[in-house]
Amino acid sequence: MEPTTLPDVTTARTPDLRTPLPGPLAQAIIARDHQFVSPSYTRSYPFVMQRGSGVMAQDPDGNIFLDLAAGVAVCATGHAHPEVVRAIQEQAEQFLHICAADFYYPHLPILAEKLATLTPGIPDKRVHFANSGAEAVEGAIKVAFHATRRQKLIGFTGSFHGRTLGALSVTASKAAQRKGFGRQALDVTHVPYANCFRCPYGKTPETCGALESKGPHCARVIEEVVMKTTVPPDECAAIIVEPIQGEGGYVVPPASFLQTLQDIAQRHDVVVIADEVQSGMGRTGKMYAAEHFGFVPDVVATAKGLASGLPIGATVARADLMTWKPGAHASTFGGNPVAVAASLATIRLLESSLMANAERMGQYLMDGLRALAERHPIIGDVRGKGLMIGIELVRDRVTREPAVHERDRFEQACYQRGLLVIACGASTIRLSPALVIDRDHCDCALSTFDEILTAGL
Ligand SMILES: Cc1ncc(COP(=O)(O)O)c(C=O)c1O
Repeated sequence: MEPTTLPDVTTARTPDLRTPLPGPLAQAIIARDHQFVSPSYTRSYPFVMQRGSGVMAQDPDGNIFLDLAAGVAVCATGHAHPEVVRAIQEQAEQFLHICAADFYYPHLPILAEKLATLTPGIPDKRVHFANSGAEAVEGAIKVAFHATRRQKLIGFTGSFHGRTLGALSVTASKAAQRKGFGRQALDVTHVPYANCFRCPYGKTPETCGALESKGPHCARVIEEVVMKTTVPPDECAAIIVEPIQGEGGYVVPPASFLQTLQDIAQRHDVVVIADEVQSGMGRTGKMYAAEHFGFVPDVVATAKGLASGLPIGATVARADLMTWKPGAHASTFGGNPVAVAASLATIRLLESSLMANAERMGQYLMDGLRALAERHPIIGDVRGKGLMIGIELVRDRVTREPAVHERDRFEQACYQRGLLVIACGASTIRLSPALVIDRDHCDCALSTFDEILTAGL
């Protein structure tokens, strides 16, 4: 019998499925995984990764997928970008680890300076390096506590900030993330996020103040209600906010929401933390999403796309806030030299072309999705910035009843047709592809979505 040649993922431009999904090799890996790996992971369909190139991903059976998830908005430069791989290899040949908390190495301050200038606001900042988004958030909260000597926090429902106990306390995304872990470790009050598609107060941008200088009701409630009842401002360390909400449903707030938060915080010497873990690193067409809104936070938490897939996170704070003394905060692996090299290569690529591509391809995808929405009433809303795009499905355009099961079936149907997408919020599909995506890939995704919606969910 002729040996079958598997398709080459490095040259593939469209999905290419050779077996029923999952194939036999994938099934064996999944069975082993189920036996030994934590059951807390939320895999919603059985894709197994073997090899990737750009926006294409291949499973062990040789099937090729178009990846519109990029490892949850992490592989900013695509799978195995040659310049990132080269930077990793070159650094790995020099040294893998020495511990930034104890010794110096040359490219750590280079990345710190880069992040200080790329994040919004004055460049006079300090950077603490961590290993993940949750740790970057922990660092941001600790900076706020330390600088203000206050302990209360204000966050938003729908927000996701990570799973460590401090980050989990500010998270208010899904009950499953909290259930079984007792009381929250930190003193956090959550208020509804600015979701204009589903305004929690039943208002519209025309009636809530979003278009007036006073700002929207959902931001003012912090000063007018919360600070007068449960969180006295002189006990409030920080307000923590995602400039575009990620896990909560790729929700884009009006600019005045973020600006009003900033004004309130300034009036009461409260630190504003922007969690840009998902929205940062060029994904939205700007290096940090805050820039779309004229929003200048005091502290930024950044991770995910920062090193195209190597684990690294950073807390970037105004220098006058990060004044803690040696020993106050550190991490053995934080700012690992190989991850730092990958990060510098990633930033070079983002600045030279990929951020601009994210803006262009984001607009192209969004236009295509809006055209699809004209023919498919189940699409209730298409929103986003750059390549951070949410497609919210509804049962009825008037009542906006969330189409939860239909969304789940949409996700499965994408997988069965060779597209990797993941869900967020109650009934939203998110698109967060690598920033190397091109028009042909976008056309392939749009025509597959059209096919799925035409066939019916
Ligand atoms: C906005 C935001 N913050 C924090 C985190 C936590 O990041 P990590 O999973 O790297 O700890 C995430 C992860 O999805 C996120 O989206």
